Amino acid sequence: MFNLKNKVAVVTGGRQGMGRTHALILAKAGAKVVVSDISKEDCQKVVDEIEKQGQEAIAVKCDVLKKDNIDKMIKETLKRFNRIDILVNNAGIVQFAPFLELTEKDWDKMIDINLKGYFLCAQRAAKEMIKQKSGAIVNIASIAMGQVGIGFNGLVHYCATKGGITAMTEAMALDLAPYNIRVNAIAPGMIDTPMVNSIKQDPKAMEGTLARIPLRRAGRPEEVSSAVLFLSSDESSYITGATLTVDGGWLAG
Ligand SMILES: NC(=O)c1ccc[n+]([C@@H]2O[C@H](COP(=O)([O-])OP(=O)(O)OC[C@H]3O[C@@H](n4cnc5c(N)ncnc54)[C@H](O)[C@@H]3O)[C@@H](O)[C@H]2O)c1
Repeated sequence: MFNLKNKVAVVTGGRQGMGRTHALILAKAGAKVVVSDISKEDCQKVVDEIEKQGQEAIAVKCDVLKKDNIDKMIKETLKRFNRIDILVNNAGIVQFAPFLELTEKDWDKMIDINLKGYFLCAQRAAKEMIKQKSGAIVNIASIAMGQVGIGFNGLVHYCATKGGITAMTEAMALDLAPYNIRVNAIAPGMIDTPMVNSIKQDPKAMEGTLARIPLRRAGRPEEVSSAVLFLSSDESSYITGATLTVDGGWLAG
């Protein structure tokens, strides 16, 4: 089960947080992994961890705001490993801003990284996957994706990107199904990564958040990576266009 031997995976935003554990888990399952992020030096540290596990990986600098960086990331993947089977679109930012104070600049930056970045990486990777008539794309969304009966104040632009990702996932799944490329999304709840440091440092915010989670704790990054592994592997071969929630029961509560 979950054997990724001979597969090649690209993880964006892989230098820390969930991206790091996605890279480690995919490598453990046998994939050769491309760890990419804005700092090559930090990605190399993750590569070192993967090599210590006895697996293969490379570090590639890729700012998803820049189309030429994305192109270079895919070219370096092909140069080193000859193919690309799995893309984990994970690179993202969060920023809290009351709606009435949200600037156009902050709106654009959020959309460009969290939404356009996913589109550009997926399209570039899919153009390679099409040649081998197989592939799996996993888009990391969030329970802040809307349409689920809960909202998140101060996060209008973030929520817009995460809702966009789940909508885009469904539509991409249809366009890529004829090529046997599956596209799915994961919607994590609160996961203990640097992204939620500001909540963790505010006891009141933390208490309020935990009260909304039936399992009464934040998730560990590895608990999301297990879902990434499942959706990347042949064990999910009949699943496409789906969004899998990994949230300790938050949406059910
Ligand atoms: N932590 C949570 O509670 C949570 C919940 C739901 C969804 N998510 C999503 O999970 C994903 C991973 O987040 P995380 O929690 O590990 O946070 P994180 O901040 O630890 O990791 C995000 C990574 O994305 C990278 N990144 C940011 N801008 C980039 C750019 N322009 N180009 C390339 N890389 C860039 C960062 O350098 C960082 O390594 C994000 O898409 C986030 O929205 C997180």
